[in-house]
Amino acid sequence: MDRRQFLHRFLAGSAALALAPRLLRAEVAVASDSTRFAQALAKEPWLAGWKDVAAESLGPTVATLEGRWPKELAGTLYRNGPARFERAGFRYRHWFDGDGMLHAWRCANGRVEHRARMVATSKYVREQAAGRFLLPAAGTTIDDALPIRNNDDVNTANTAVIRFGGRVFALWEGGSAIEVDADELRTIGPVAWREDLVAAPFSAHPLLDRDGSLWNFGSLDLLGGSGLLLWHLGADGKPIRVATLPSEGHGYLHAFAMTARHLVFVLTPYRIEEGRAAFFERLRFTPERPCRIAVVPKDALDAPRWFEADFAAVYHFADAWERGGEIFVRAARHADVEAMRSPMAAAMRGERGDGATRTDLATLRLDTATGRARWEAGGVRGLEFPVFDTRHAAASAARVYAPLHLDRGSPYFDAVAAIDGERTAIHRYGAGVLAEEHRFVPKPGRRRTGEGWLLGTLLDTRRGRSGLAVFDAERVADGPLAQAWLPYTFPLGFHGWFAGSARA
Ligand SMILES: [Fe+2]
Repeated sequence: MDRRQFLHRFLAGSAALALAPRLLRAEVAVASDSTRFAQALAKEPWLAGWKDVAAESLGPTVATLEGRWPKELAGTLYRNGPARFERAGFRYRHWFDGDGMLHAWRCANGRVEHRARMVATSKYVREQAAGRFLLPAAGTTIDDALPIRNNDDVNTANTAVIRFGGRVFALWEGGSAIEVDADELRTIGPVAWREDLVAAPFSAHPLLDRDGSLWNFGSLDLLGGSGLLLWHLGADGKPIRVATLPSEGHGYLHAFAMTARHLVFVLTPYRIEEGRAAFFERLRFTPERPCRIAVVPKDALDAPRWFEADFAAVYHFADAWERGGEIFVRAARHADVEAMRSPMAAAMRGERGDGATRTDLATLRLDTATGRARWEAGGVRGLEFPVFDTRHAAASAARVYAPLHLDRGSPYFDAVAAIDGERTAIHRYGAGVLAEEHRFVPKPGRRRTGEGWLLGTLLDTRRGRSGLAVFDAERVADGPLAQAWLPYTFPLGFHGWFAGSARA
């Protein structure tokens, strides 16, 4: 089957519409109970990280500062994460199910202001009107769920956010990017990058290339097929190329990596159990099988080279580079596949987990001469959400910044690290402070790699406040330059994007 036929079969017209519900259909409603969660939260304030948000918007609120916020840091940190977990006494079981709430932390003249708004997806609008969940969720079985026409009917827009071509988009894994107004965060609606690809999966982890174009993938598994849709969008938002990458069998991936010349897709093997429960309830990773890895030349999307390496479960990749015929890719590798399938499942029930994040910063080495691929364990453990300074093409490992889970007494990440070869600079937050992804923000006018700030969102569970910390990225161990705190909390989220005040 050529690519055109493949694309037609899986993505055009009624075929896709009929296939889409299969993996998301649900049968039995046995959900965690809102009342039980509320009782647990009264005793365990850290559960605020997974508490439902009933409001449609928060703020705008001027944050209270501790320390001196850098005046030169001008722009908006957008953040996204699941926030609507409960309706009519029914609570989602899976963290990924909550409807997305978009946040904007505006930094200007040494001042920080926060506002947030629920993304008005079609799912959110319909369920808001009904007062209960109506539609299938990715990880919780919903009784009597309505049939869906396509993936955007269940799009929660809850995973990530980007500004691209001067526009802001809330991203999910299985459907369209949802455009929002950059200032007020009001929802504009789903984007069809190409008219024949309405509601096609556009993942939450696109990568911006140095020429201003954007690469992304969408999983065809989510449409009942197998393989990937590859997106290459110009800086104007128009597709340069859309291609399919067929693969044999299922492979899960949430993100990908990129060198100057190649895209690298690591497919983690899984199977789907029979039945009609939700997708993540039936998904089983299969550690006895290898990962399949596609290395795709940016200038020849139809000429992938496939490798096989030992099983690895990965959500997020850090940097990637090429040297001496080898491709190196670093990733936050999970040792616990059950935690990978349903992260923070105990917290969603209002319970404490075992207090460990079993990950390492592993390196995948792909030898293009021999065709061999292998994972090398990394020395740094307990990290997730790795980022790095992406401005310059690298020939060796970058400095990686990531939240760390150090103290097993903490229910979530409690520190941030700058990982630089064998040296790791760490700042440990205070007791009860939970840390999310920290974004690297270049300092204006500075070109040297690593010259920038780190901006990281926090939840201070003891004092009941959400906040934002800023570090000099070259002095992480010195602790934050300043912190900005709000008089309220909202749940922990996933990914953010810093948009400088000069419009890009
Ligand atoms: Fe992610």
